[in-house]
Amino acid sequence: MKFLAVASLFAGALAQYGTAGSGPDKNGKYLIESEGIKANFIPYGASISNLWIEDKHGIERDIVLGFDNASYYTIDKQHPHLGAVPGRYANRIKNSSFDIDGTTYHVLPNENNNNDTLHGGPDGWDWRNWTVLSHTSNSITFQIIDPDGKEGFPGVVYSWVTYTLTPYTWHIKMVAEALTKKTPIMLSSHTYWNLDAFQNPDTPLVLNHTLHLPYSGQRVGCDGILIPNGTILPNEKYGLNDFWSQPKQIGANFSNPDLLGNCGTNCTGYDTCYLVNRAQNGPYDWREKGPVATLSSDFSGIEINVFTDQEAFQVYSCGGQNGTLTLKETQGLHGDSKRPRVVEQYGCVVMEVEDWIDAINQPEWQRDKRQIFGPGDDPYTLQATYEFSVKK
Ligand SMILES: *[C@@H]1O[C@H](CO)[C@@H](O)[C@H](O)[C@H]1NC(C)=O
Ligand SMILES: *[C@@H]1O[C@H](CO)[C@@H](O)[C@H](O)[C@H]1NC(C)=O
Ligand SMILES: *[C@@H]1O[C@H](CO)[C@@H](O)[C@H](O)[C@H]1NC(C)=O
Ligand SMILES: *[C@@H]1O[C@H](CO)[C@@H](O)[C@H](O)[C@H]1NC(C)=O
Ligand SMILES: *[C@@H]1O[C@H](CO)[C@@H](O)[C@H](O)[C@H]1NC(C)=O
Ligand SMILES: *[C@@H]1O[C@H](CO)[C@@H](O)[C@H](O)[C@H]1NC(C)=O
Ligand SMILES: *[C@@H]1O[C@H](CO)[C@@H](O)[C@H](O)[C@H]1NC(C)=O
Ligand SMILES: *[C@@H]1O[C@H](CO)[C@@H](O)[C@H](O)[C@H]1NC(C)=O
Ligand SMILES: *[C@@H]1O[C@H](CO)[C@@H](O)[C@H](O)[C@H]1NC(C)=O
Repeated sequence: MKFLAVASLFAGALAQYGTAGSGPDKNGKYLIESEGIKANFIPYGASISNLWIEDKHGIERDIVLGFDNASYYTIDKQHPHLGAVPGRYANRIKNSSFDIDGTTYHVLPNENNNNDTLHGGPDGWDWRNWTVLSHTSNSITFQIIDPDGKEGFPGVVYSWVTYTLTPYTWHIKMVAEALTKKTPIMLSSHTYWNLDAFQNPDTPLVLNHTLHLPYSGQRVGCDGILIPNGTILPNEKYGLNDFWSQPKQIGANFSNPDLLGNCGTNCTGYDTCYLVNRAQNGPYDWREKGPVATLSSDFSGIEINVFTDQEAFQVYSCGGQNGTLTLKETQGLHGDSKRPRVVEQYGCVVMEVEDWIDAINQPEWQRDKRQIFGPGDDPYTLQATYEFSVKK
């Protein structure tokens, strides 16, 4: 039954493609736009590659990381998951294994000398070209069919992701269905931000960006390779991980030596799964209750408010960048500037709406209903809206 539904969707897609939108440009990118906002997407990883917002100086800034053209994404060896949808299971899986109903499954490892699986494995969803299902002037939908056994995961998964722009707003909807067997599913949007488009003459970094996570008084405790160890930790007020009690610059605590190790062994900064705790204030509608995160930069005046139905929020302050990733032509300073046209360490911040990471290996967290899906279950869904505004 489900297979037939997928097959007919697929046929519909082929008919629709080429008529609804204008298709890819010479760089292989699909444009969508609305008032005050425009964006490019590519089939590789169903990724966002460019996002323009007009800043307080009246200049359009391209505020997400990416490459100049779609074909380079497959060529680049670093593969930082730029703007992609990690899947079928985002973040890390401890020891590359998990149990479902008493069966142990092993998935392909791809990180830390093969101690764990990151973002769905060596050929996870963000290494593959998705199919464009539809493309209109303000919306694009991608789909993927992930075969049984791919990367070691059980069962076929069918997924589609729709990105829509409305005035000053980016909407994300992800749906995934397990068609044949019970399997873990957790998705996210792995978008790297620099709200100054690397064009702030005073700094190419995000350490002066201000972050607020008003519902995130707790975080997932991890070991030195960022694998959850079962603990949920308090983000003490005024502590290194306190972004909840008041907004704070990402770099506010970088002079504190205790920040070394906060994002894994030898890493200074953040690569942290913050919990989003809203239910204690009564029933909530995620579209109204929020934002779960606010990020802003004084230089461009651009502010993002993130609303989502997800109950965790990963923040990565790009400690792993080292100047080897080249900026897009649309970013950085051109002309006489001596600044290298690269992403430096702490030059970006990744914000990922998601569920509690590696909960499939922490049964006492009781999140199976949100992370394990089988035939006949309601599908996995993720929704988020990023609302942009500009402060003069
Ligand atoms: C594609 O983009 C890459 C990286 O942004 C760049 O090095 C390359 O020259 C581009 N290729 C073409 C054909 O534009
Ligand atoms: C994905 O599509 C790009 C063009 O957009 C192409 O250059 C590349 O070879 C494709 N990669 C795969 C893995 O199919
Ligand atoms: C990790 O998985 C391997 C099999 O791939 C297994 O032999 C080993 O016991 C597991 N280690 C832990 C700590 O669970
Ligand atoms: C990974 O596993 C190997 C053994 O397979 C071990 O030697 C190593 O210390 C582990 N940890 C890391 C971070 O590589
Ligand atoms: C960043 O913020 C710090 C303190 O909040 C300040 O000392 C520094 O001058 C700022 N740097 C830039 C480039 O705005
Ligand atoms: C888990 O990791 C956290 C953060 O590194 C640490 O504080 C805690 O002691 C660890 N707990 C266990 C049981 O390993
Ligand atoms: C972190 O930075 C904030 C803002 O500057 C400050 O109030 C707080 O004391 C700092 N916390 C630590 C642990 O350094
Ligand atoms: C930690 O970083 C320092 C400096 O970058 C390096 O010399 C050292 O080898 C690193 N240690 C580990 C365990 O990665
Ligand atoms: C910089 O980071 C990239 C990607 O992680 C890595 O391949 C490269 O070896 C690093 N270069 C240096 C000089 O550390």
